[in-house]
Amino acid sequence: MASPAVDGSEALERIAREIRSCTRCPLHQQRTQAVPGEGPADAPLLFVGEGPGAEEDVQGRPFVGAAGRLLDRLLGSIRIPRERVFITNTVRCRPPGNREPHPDEVAACLPYLVRQMSVLHPRVVCLLGATATRALLGSDQKLNQVRGRALREAGRWWFATYHPAAALRSASLANALQEDFRRLRRLVDVEWGTEDPARWKPGALHKIFAHPQPTEPVLLAEAGTLRISWEVRGVHPVFRTESALAELLRRFVLRQRPAEPGVGLEVLKLETTDGSGRPVPPENPDCAHLHAEVRLVGGA
Ligand code: URA
Repeated sequence: MASPAVDGSEALERIAREIRSCTRCPLHQQRTQAVPGEGPADAPLLFVGEGPGAEEDVQGRPFVGAAGRLLDRLLGSIRIPRERVFITNTVRCRPPGNREPHPDEVAACLPYLVRQMSVLHPRVVCLLGATATRALLGSDQKLNQVRGRALREAGRWWFATYHPAAALRSASLANALQEDFRRLRRLVDVEWGTEDPARWKPGALHKIFAHPQPTEPVLLAEAGTLRISWEVRGVHPVFRTESALAELLRRFVLRQRPAEPGVGLEVLKLETTDGSGRPVPPENPDCAHLHAEVRLVGGA
């Protein structure tokens, strides 16, 4: 019997063949060849750029020009081999003159990405630049507002940052991109289990308590809701979003319970406050506490 990775490689190759002969949008008319993307079928990390440039159009491979060389250096700096990740683009044919792809071209190409993701099941998706960020996170998303922080949506982590090509034109963007890659590494470490966020602030977990009396999270009621407060001052900046904090909270609390298939923790309400109890957004450096209302869901 074929291993899942072999099945996955075949499924990815089928999608790649379709992409290479695709005529769904006018971009196919001027391409030398389409660029489906590359990487192993079990890659836990997926990078999505904008679209092929001149070099990529000639070679049929993603990120092999100047921006690709910077991406390789960034990956090297966080000790992630390029061969371990899957790299692709929002559109797979080079837009003439490297212009931004039009929304209808993005819409025509997106189903290929959805299909590749359903084979890859990446645990972390890194969006390189505004085009990929809008295509995957929504057209109203501003890169500057979401970059450098983990978002938890649809059962996986999303992390947006600048496009390497933009960093080649600006030293300050290059520094910001490097810093974002360090944050991406922390996210990946937590997701791969090589770093335990509960250790960032000794005792952070013990600050989880129930009202009216402090209670071990283990005793989380089988029915009903529980209010939890959590000291989040020590949480790494990459996780300073509501969706990421909610996910960490879910993991911490469920870890206190014997593993039960299908049991999850639903976060009904979540608020973050400073040391004086004033509401502040999670990314605010003064944010000190998270207050949540949760309940157990699923299970037998
Ligand atoms: N820029 C992109 O967005 N993708 C590539 O593959 C190369 C450059």
